[in-house]
Amino acid sequence: MENIEDIKKRILTEIAAAENLKSLEETRVLALGKKGCITEMMKSLGALSPEERKEAGRVFNVLKMEIESALEARKSLLEKAELNARLAEEKIDVTLPVRPETQGRIHPVSKIYEEVTAIFGEMGFDVAEGPDIEDDFHNFTALNIPANHPARQMHDTFYLPKEANGSRDIDDSYVIRTHTSPVQIRTMEKQRPPIRIIAPGRTYRSDYDATHTPMFHQIEGLVIDRNITMAHLKGCLYDFIKAFFEVDEIPVRYRPSFFPFTEPSAEMDIGCKKSKDELKIGAGTDWLEILGCGMVHPNVLKAGGIDPEEYQGFAFGLGLDRLAMLKYGIPDLRTFFESDVRWLKHYGFVPLDESSMTGGLSNNGGLAR
Ligand code: DAH
Repeated sequence: MENIEDIKKRILTEIAAAENLKSLEETRVLALGKKGCITEMMKSLGALSPEERKEAGRVFNVLKMEIESALEARKSLLEKAELNARLAEEKIDVTLPVRPETQGRIHPVSKIYEEVTAIFGEMGFDVAEGPDIEDDFHNFTALNIPANHPARQMHDTFYLPKEANGSRDIDDSYVIRTHTSPVQIRTMEKQRPPIRIIAPGRTYRSDYDATHTPMFHQIEGLVIDRNITMAHLKGCLYDFIKAFFEVDEIPVRYRPSFFPFTEPSAEMDIGCKKSKDELKIGAGTDWLEILGCGMVHPNVLKAGGIDPEEYQGFAFGLGLDRLAMLKYGIPDLRTFFESDVRWLKHYGFVPLDESSMTGGLSNNGGLAR
């Protein structure tokens, strides 16, 4: 049988020879594990007389401690070596040029934003902006939405609590804007006609299902000049919708509607074919509502400081997320804002494919999906 000195020598040699953490662990188990040779030796202490047990116990403990500290020392050495090897292996050369196939994807909402601004930009529209936190005047009153209008009801609108006493006096409170229409007023306040703007941005309403999220995106359009008529509105929106869906012709109809800030008001539908699990845009006998529009109400022009006797205008508003869902066949709006990388990989766009009227809008062959 091996004596203690031999055992110690053998184990220490094995420890020193262990080339990686795995073989070091194997050595540890063979010595100190449940069935390891030192553990077995310690178990045999029970058979000795008390005197012998005391002496042998001391010897075993010293041996065990020596082995443990050798294991520990070897382990930290090997860990350092493994870390250094990994660092050397994972080194990246930051001076290398970027590869064209980048990992990132453009969100469908950003893509539609780019497409719509490219189309209206080509028609001579500027992009205007307004704040997400709006005062009641710009969001409602100036848009001819009287104090008792249903759109003001709490279940739609997110009101900001009044600072000092927390009471809500509707007439001078702040909201997070429920639509992009207040940018119409803000633009009129800053700029004299002719005005030709679109205002894309975030909007907020207390609503949540497959086609509604508390935050969503709209695009507002506003044209003001002398002698503007409904014919301009129709021509402009027809050109837009054809360019957007990348088709040469598309059936369009206008249905009378009501918005407090336009008179007359209309909703624009486009022709489509609805079947059980497919929606084909651009042909067929079904209709799909696509946007709201109308001639700017004289009260709205007045609120913006423009004389309605001298100027007329048309306006329109459309849901950007809805356009993305339609054009790219995305069924649930809520998934847009879940920040799931797998979703973005599937529905997102390659960053270098910029949308332009000359280079192509979506680069996916129009209505392919
Ligand atoms: N602001 C309306 C909404 O959020 C959309 C809209 C309809 C805007 C008609 C307009 C318009 O400018 O003319 O439902």
